[in-house]
Amino acid sequence: MRLLVATNNPGKYRELREGLAPLGWELASLLDYPFKMPPEEGASFEDNAMLKAAFACRQTGLLTLADDSGLEVDALEGEPGVYSARFGGRKSDLERNIYLLERLKGVPAEKRTARFVAVLAVAHPQGFMQLFRGVTEGLILEAPRGENGFGYDPLFFVPEAGKTFAEMSLEEKAQYSHRGKALAELLEAYKDGFRIPEASSSE
Ligand code: IMP
Repeated sequence: MRLLVATNNPGKYRELREGLAPLGWELASLLDYPFKMPPEEGASFEDNAMLKAAFACRQTGLLTLADDSGLEVDALEGEPGVYSARFGGRKSDLERNIYLLERLKGVPAEKRTARFVAVLAVAHPQGFMQLFRGVTEGLILEAPRGENGFGYDPLFFVPEAGKTFAEMSLEEKAQYSHRGKALAELLEAYKDGFRIPEASSSE
């Protein structure tokens, strides 16, 4: 089985590649298929994941996985959400982290609750699509901690682990993260191979 992992984000690609390894499938990346992905204009993680997976699947004819994910901060009424990659129009992870800290200035620790959401969409060339969702609850710290990972990882503290995502190894982050949980659902669904469900005769 050959699967295109349709992301331009190297941090996501690394996590997806590790997470998909147990399937033993051959993975292709957008480096192998250098076309431009469409703008993410959906109102939900599901919309954007489906848009990306369907688009890349049509471009290549391959079974395709896309990830849409982001951070929802309660004190910011769910921002940045689907706009996490371009929060405040800031260009780099560092700038977005600084902007997030500015927006949360003066918000006390107990009100800095947030969650990471990941939706994985798998698009099949014959038109079939499957979605997998993972959520991790946490807190936004007042200063970054840790060097690993990407994006908002240094600011996202996971109480049950006692660490930020950026203080975790790749394996540890996979255990606690939104993407790791969505991947676990995907592995469970495909553990006996990828099959398109039979059409039901009663509908
Ligand atoms: P998109 O899915 O391409 O729209 O980008 C999602 C954005 O959310 C990324 O660019 C990161 O800023 C952020 N994000 C998603 N998942 C993670 C994660 O696991 N750690 C840190 N930031 C993340």
